[in-house]
Amino acid sequence: MSLTWTAARSSGLHGLLRVPGDKSISHRAIIFGALAEGRTHVSGFLEGEDTRATERIFSQLGVRIETPDAQSRIIHGVGLHGLQASAAPLDCGNAGTGMRLLTGLLCAQAFDSVLIGDASLSQRPMARVINKLEAMGGRISAREGNFAPLHVHGGQYLRPVEIDTGVASAQVKSALLLAAMYAEGESVITEPRPTRDYTEAMMKSMGWPISYSPGRIRIRGGGRLQGGDIGIPGDISSAAFLITAALLIPGSDITLENIGVNPRRTGILQALRLMGGQIEVFNEREQGGEPVADLKIRHSALKAIELPESLVPDMIDECPIFFVAAALAEGTTDASGLAELRVKESDRIASMVTGLRAMGALVEETPDSVTITGGHLHGAVIQSHHDHRIAMSFAVAAQCASGETLLHDCDNVATSFPGFVDLAQSAGMILE
Ligand code: S3P
Repeated sequence: MSLTWTAARSSGLHGLLRVPGDKSISHRAIIFGALAEGRTHVSGFLEGEDTRATERIFSQLGVRIETPDAQSRIIHGVGLHGLQASAAPLDCGNAGTGMRLLTGLLCAQAFDSVLIGDASLSQRPMARVINKLEAMGGRISAREGNFAPLHVHGGQYLRPVEIDTGVASAQVKSALLLAAMYAEGESVITEPRPTRDYTEAMMKSMGWPISYSPGRIRIRGGGRLQGGDIGIPGDISSAAFLITAALLIPGSDITLENIGVNPRRTGILQALRLMGGQIEVFNEREQGGEPVADLKIRHSALKAIELPESLVPDMIDECPIFFVAAALAEGTTDASGLAELRVKESDRIASMVTGLRAMGALVEETPDSVTITGGHLHGAVIQSHHDHRIAMSFAVAAQCASGETLLHDCDNVATSFPGFVDLAQSAGMILE
């Protein structure tokens, strides 16, 4: 399947908008709701292909999940030891989060499991979780090169560890936390740079013995999780496309409601503000322990910056759209510390550099950095490489370009942002 979009210059974005629920929290709501005792009510669930894949997997593992209405789930938790073996492989689709977190959880079960994914996920590095989980006593066989399919061998004794994730990855950290729940005794997990802490926060709110500060977690094995209510805010990674579009397109003025603004996710707001973007964060509140706010964004003349490397982990999924902002800003933007972008749903440095050059931008790359000189963009034919965030980034770039842009391989946008085209059109983007 290959979906193609056409896009052209917009004359401004307007309105009060809501984006779908946060992808990271939605995956975790299913996982921890399933492992909890009692029922968990989830609202704001992301009806995306990635999170539905995780939901399907837990149904295969014997968990009853009801859908009272769209974006709501009732999960009938089976407790820490209540999952059942699935005879069929567990298909994570395009979702790195699903596959990596499940590897950690499944290596602590009494039964074997097989995790599979689509062509992109089958090329993404799994050694980062396999090696660390094996240090705890887990046993995982992979295709040559440590790629999926993964055969996760159950029935292993897991020991508590003091371990560093080695890479700034919330997925690796979360896989270790899920395994550490089943180890006897206390584990200490550290990371080279703090990453999103939704796993820790959700475990704590459900009553697990865990304490954490940025980059360091202490967790005890052998606790209980208590089901409850989980309200999921809008995904700032999805909001980032509309925020950047509104900053770039003259005449724009939009308000985004109910966006999750966990400090480990707001790097993109800081970066765009450094460029001169007018982004007002207001109506700040807490929802289920997570900071949530409304955002008002007005068109702003953006200037190039040197992106502080410390911001990168806090905007890891927003780098592609940040590159679009840089390609339309005044001056030359430098960004480094970007090596992780090479192992996302596509090689996001290569995908962005090729596409931006096709639209006329001046871009240089090294293995872990880019230099982008802002200027005029023109329409072009763009390959999205079946990567949702590449497709949406170029849909925004096309709103500021002369002529028409043809975007190929946009099918996977439904993994994280179902309804993107309709919402973008209603706000004033020229996209179909
Ligand atoms: C995620 C962590 C990040 C991010 C991904 C979601 C998560 O991946 O890119 O979209 O939910 O834990 P890494 O852990 O590979 O940085």
